[in-house]
Amino acid sequence: MYKTTILIIFLISLSSFINECITLANVCKDISSKSVYLQLKSYLFCDYDADVRPENNKKKTTSIEITVMPKIIEFNDATNILDVHCWTAMNWTDPYLTWNPDDFEGLNSLYISSNDVWVPDIIVHNSGDANDNAKSIPETTCGLNSNGGILCIPAIKYTAHCDTDYTHYPYDIQNCTIELASWSYSSDEILLLLSHGIVMTDFTPNNEWKILKSSIIYKIQDFKMNNSHTSLIYIIQFILQRRGAGIHIVYIVPAIILMVMTLSVLWLDCHSTERMIVAYISFICHLICIQDLYAIIPHNGAALPNILQFYENSFLLMAGTLIITALLREVQNSSILAPQWLTCTTSLILQSKFGQVLLLSILDPKASAFLETSADDRTDLMHAKKNLTWSYVILLLGWLTFISVLFTYIIMLVILLPTRITSIT
Ligand SMILES: *[C@@H]1O[C@H](CO)[C@@H](O)[C@H](O)[C@H]1NC(C)=O
Ligand SMILES: *[C@@H]1O[C@H](CO)[C@@H](O)[C@H](O)[C@H]1NC(C)=O
Ligand SMILES: *[C@@H]1O[C@H](CO)[C@@H](O)[C@H](O)[C@H]1NC(C)=O
Repeated sequence: MYKTTILIIFLISLSSFINECITLANVCKDISSKSVYLQLKSYLFCDYDADVRPENNKKKTTSIEITVMPKIIEFNDATNILDVHCWTAMNWTDPYLTWNPDDFEGLNSLYISSNDVWVPDIIVHNSGDANDNAKSIPETTCGLNSNGGILCIPAIKYTAHCDTDYTHYPYDIQNCTIELASWSYSSDEILLLLSHGIVMTDFTPNNEWKILKSSIIYKIQDFKMNNSHTSLIYIIQFILQRRGAGIHIVYIVPAIILMVMTLSVLWLDCHSTERMIVAYISFICHLICIQDLYAIIPHNGAALPNILQFYENSFLLMAGTLIITALLREVQNSSILAPQWLTCTTSLILQSKFGQVLLLSILDPKASAFLETSADDRTDLMHAKKNLTWSYVILLLGWLTFISVLFTYIIMLVILLPTRITSIT
């Protein structure tokens, strides 16, 4: 009885031990004896450190060829930051990751994670968002071939800060640069090659910004960790132009209409009610336009946008016109006689051929007729004479203001009105 119990216990423990062995064998199959990929991976990475830079030749530099392929750009004119979403192809040779394909059933390429191998730390040096680019490239799958050639094509967002200039808004052109270099290796250690430059095929055009030009230049500066070394920095330049389709309707057409309004105020008869009404309407329109524009136009550039300057000057001219109109109306109704010198000068100008033709027949035919009759009739009353002399002076002043405001507007149109630039050198 005692012996049987011991035997049973022994048998039970034996069976559970066998069970456990079977389960263990199920979990850990011997795949590496069957999969050549696993054999190759354990062969390559058995003694590999992803932090050690592969040294290619006697000069101990690693050459890296990169090709930047922008896909999408985004430019934010409130923060002056340009985001370039691109694919960056990088290939280099890692002599520590070579094998003989014959030893591995002729296998001559392998996909590996970029986290498992050494990758160059090529990042933007003038980043507009340092957090985003502070690390190395984002994780991706890379191709490796038997002679150690590695090709990685990570999708990267480069964020650059631009020196903006909104002077020619809405036809402004922005110059954005991305400085690309290795962060922690000097040019003696890593040699960057940008032989294919920027490849713009497959680029999705931005609705708001058009790339006028993209180019690559480079500069050499002291290596940030040791002054006796240098680093090579590639500068990728994007010249962007705002598309602004139909944008002139919003900004430029109102500017012209306001200009015509101001001029017509000066053209209208000084003591007519219409003149005052048009003047007030124009004044209010200027005010609304300037408020509206200031809210919309980006004004964080170095210079004030020309279109805003145009509106501001036009507003000042309008205010001046309003003041002159009020003064002239006041003078018209006053009982003081015009000073002798003023009457003399006025009549001198008016009596000249130039004054007769331009001023009287064009601007005020009624005054012209009145002037002719009063010249014949020498028995004018004192009152009529006084009014008449003021009329001349007012007429002349109105005419002079009109000409000078027109002239100012023409200069402003030439200098300040933005026009589309179609090509740059
Ligand atoms: C990168 O790949 C191209 C094409 O496969 C090759 O010609 C070039 O030598 C490679 N560059 C480097 C640095 O390995
Ligand atoms: C853009 O800016 C860079 C430097 O910031 C300058 O070298 C380059 O000439 C500029 N390009 C244009 C077209 O203005
Ligand atoms: C800087 O580089 C020089 C030349 O290679 C070397 O002699 C020096 O020790 C380096 N300095 C530092 C701080 O690494």
